[in-house]
Amino acid sequence: MQALHLWTLLATYAVAVGQNQGQKNQECPKLNAQMPEFQKKTVHIKDPARVEEIICGLIKGGAAKLQIITDFDMTLSRFSYNGKRCPTCHNIIDNSKIITDECRKKLLQLKETYYAIEIDPALTIEEKYPYMVEWYHKSHALLIEQGLQKDKFAEIVRESDVMLKEGYENFFDKLSEHNIPVFIFSAGIGDILEEVIHQAGVYHSNVKVVSNFMDFDENGILKGFKGELIHVYNKHDGALKNTEYFKQLKDNSNIILLGDSQGDLSMADGVANVEHILKIGYLNDKVDELLEKYMDSYDIVLVKDESLEVANSILQKIL
Ligand code: TMP
Ligand code: MG
Repeated sequence: MQALHLWTLLATYAVAVGQNQGQKNQECPKLNAQMPEFQKKTVHIKDPARVEEIICGLIKGGAAKLQIITDFDMTLSRFSYNGKRCPTCHNIIDNSKIITDECRKKLLQLKETYYAIEIDPALTIEEKYPYMVEWYHKSHALLIEQGLQKDKFAEIVRESDVMLKEGYENFFDKLSEHNIPVFIFSAGIGDILEEVIHQAGVYHSNVKVVSNFMDFDENGILKGFKGELIHVYNKHDGALKNTEYFKQLKDNSNIILLGDSQGDLSMADGVANVEHILKIGYLNDKVDELLEKYMDSYDIVLVKDESLEVANSILQKIL
């Protein structure tokens, strides 16, 4: 009788502790049985048991321990829509009327040369690195020559074909509702990126953008770029420069990382205290050649997937 009483007390205490920490009173889910989003053909996982274990850790940690670290171009934004390629932040300017046709031609030529190198399955990151620096220097120099006006950015974003991935409202709104820190870490152009998420109505106060921000003169004309260049393959260095941000989030030791490039895997390198990290990678191009490499480095690989459904289904379990 006494043992039963003690057991009831313990059980009541356990429930109260769980509720205090805002945790969902939930068992660890089986991916396919309890998370139907994982049955989609686009989802590729090398080690499902490990992914279940990580998701279980994320659920147990709840909102209090969670933070999101995400790339922008081709991760939060779409790679294509109805068979047509969507623009990166840079491409929004490349395709716009605020640059001359001659400049557009040069930027598109650069893109042809260097994008092929960016995604070349035969080259290592070390081999690609100097070419990426070259691309950014040439491309940014061309933009500076054009004397771009900051006050034209809202219009060129509105007129562009940029689109965020399906389910973005749910993704950003849920993260904002639970005040989960979201670190958008992009080798794109910060000023354009901010305009995109602002126009989409999801630039909430829990979102921090680290990217290449433009420097304007007193008339709002582009004169350079601020800070050190962030390109596709130096996110490790950028991550370490943001240790102050991550120090403030020292209790947020559970991470969901979203990216589309091998370079995005180092976006969480500045986090001091990592308990569980789930890496979700979008594979948009050169799928046959790159799938194995992506499955070896990302926990979940989403092939030609234009939605945030998988991430949202995980957030649904955690929050
Ligand atoms: P991300 O880090 O947000 O993905 O942004 C970087 C992307 O921008 C990367 O895929 C390369 C691309 N890019 C262009 O599209 N045009 C350019 O001129 C440059 C320099 C980069
Ligand atoms: Mg990207």
